[in-house]
Amino acid sequence: MSTDSAMSSLISPDTSVSPHPTLKLGVMASGSGSNFEAIAQAIADRQLNAQIQVLIYNNPGAKVAARADRWSVPSVLLDHRNFSSREALDEAIVSTLQQRGVEWVIMAGWMRIVTPVLIAAFRDRILNIHPSLLPSFKGNRAVEQALKAGVKIAGCTVHRVVTEVDSGEIIMQAAVPVLPDDTPERLQNRIHAQEHCIYPRAIALAASQVSID
Ligand code: GRF
Repeated sequence: MSTDSAMSSLISPDTSVSPHPTLKLGVMASGSGSNFEAIAQAIADRQLNAQIQVLIYNNPGAKVAARADRWSVPSVLLDHRNFSSREALDEAIVSTLQQRGVEWVIMAGWMRIVTPVLIAAFRDRILNIHPSLLPSFKGNRAVEQALKAGVKIAGCTVHRVVTEVDSGEIIMQAAVPVLPDDTPERLQNRIHAQEHCIYPRAIALAASQVSID
């Protein structure tokens, strides 16, 4: 076990997850997609009983699209630059997710603010991961915010998505130490490793708390 993982700790209200039917996930991502990869790997390893029905991404050339191809997950590009408003983009997202039979929406590095159009269509069934211990350091550049504030413990949070950014119910968190010689990149890498551990577990935990009608 590395020093980082030995010093990192999981913070969760309940990690004993009850069994649930196969979850039908729709993942939304804008960039690299390492969290998409971690979720796909957890499913393949049977640590998460789920299926990724579709990946929606908004940036042509985003690395996450190639990852989806490698996992044989269908992907749909919805470029926000082609929509007249946030609501119009979200209407297209909802329609795509519903066509693919998605029950749970997993935002994994989706770098757009979402609107009530999406939130109402999947109420309580949209999750996001944020690289801070919420409610501290909401919004962009959370890792830089934490370093600037001089905190000694940083981390990541999986939470339900509500209209206010980075503010919904906290499902699971993991903490990592901030080391004296940390740069934003080093701390980000340490946080990322924990994101990959908690996101699949948090999906299962959240699903065990909400039933699909
Ligand atoms: C993660 O740090 C996540 O917390 C934030 O966006 C980043 C996505 O990384 N919301 P990746 O694309 O999954 O590698």
